[in-house]
Amino acid sequence: MNIEELIRPELAAMGGYTPIEPIEILEQRAGGRIIKLDGNENPYGCSPKVYQALANYSYYHIYPDPEQKKLRQALKEYAGLSHEHIVCGSGSDELIDLILRLFLKPGDKTINCSPTFGMYPFSTEVCGGKVVDVPRSENFAADMAGIKKALSQETKVIFIASPNNPTGNTITEQEILELLDTGKIVVVDEAYFEFSNITMAGLVPAYPNLIVLRTFSKWAGLAGLRIGYGIFPIKIASYLMKIKQPYNVNVAAQVAILASLADVDYLRGNVAKIVAERERLFGKLKELDWLKPYPSSGNFILCSVPSGEAKKIWQQLQKKGIFVRYFNSPRLKDCLRISVGKPEDTDALIEALKEVKHGRKKSNSNS
Ligand SMILES: Cc1ncc(COP(=O)(O)O)c(C=O)c1O
Repeated sequence: MNIEELIRPELAAMGGYTPIEPIEILEQRAGGRIIKLDGNENPYGCSPKVYQALANYSYYHIYPDPEQKKLRQALKEYAGLSHEHIVCGSGSDELIDLILRLFLKPGDKTINCSPTFGMYPFSTEVCGGKVVDVPRSENFAADMAGIKKALSQETKVIFIASPNNPTGNTITEQEILELLDTGKIVVVDEAYFEFSNITMAGLVPAYPNLIVLRTFSKWAGLAGLRIGYGIFPIKIASYLMKIKQPYNVNVAAQVAILASLADVDYLRGNVAKIVAERERLFGKLKELDWLKPYPSSGNFILCSVPSGEAKKIWQQLQKKGIFVRYFNSPRLKDCLRISVGKPEDTDALIEALKEVKHGRKKSNSNS
């Protein structure tokens, strides 16, 4: 029996995503603590109130509330829109998938502005859709004319991450308004909103085709618990509530969201530290004349290595227990993306970069 004959051919042919190793394995390999700057995670972790709330919660044996009532009420304050606009997911990854399940029929298309977050093409393909890529310009701005030219009857959804991962730049409200005018569903992925303070959420009530996605993975340090939410036009939110798995957000995640929202000032303090460190890291990277860092409004910085040594640098850093993300796609040739860590992580990274570039142990010079 050939199982492949039963599998959807487009899925059998699909490449899938590149997995990353769990932190325990990386630490085991490195023989101690590592500096993990490859996942845009929050180096300060979550609020201490999350640990307390999880320890004190006593209904782990009961299914979660399928209507997410408490969560949507609590998020209403934070997101600034009524609960009917909000739907939570198991990470914003799940919401990307749910949106595509709602809008795509086989052969329908989505617009992907590469280089960008890999889950848009991934979920499009899993949902039976086709990805139309409209590459970003030299400075990574979305190609507005190119997007409009690429639209067709089959185009359903345009994805724009702002700040964009991995390039760090944002899109303007004017550009989003132009995209909304096309009548297609426009998903503005604001996973890094708290680091940029730029949002399109206020436009949602006025536009039936605008979706804003957010997450607790970055600013609130809860990537491992998988919690995202979207701010949707009420009609779309009600369809998503209808088609989502009833228990898509587990009780631990629900408890953690409520505890985080009760400690927003603390979490914003960590965001401020990360933003300050991003600027310090940018300055230090810029001082290395063999690296070209791009300005970022997220919690990461993309750098190109014009000498073509990005892979070597990435591998050498790993040997020193420092993990960054390496890209080598045509548009991101010889690039590294470095997540912003604590000040001591920046210091260790810069020291290691100088050592690996010049193949010596200690260095006080940048050249
Ligand atoms: C632009 C963007 N959107 C969404 C996500 C995923 O967020 P979540 O952890 O909520 O699934 C990421 C994670 O890196 C991201 O970079």
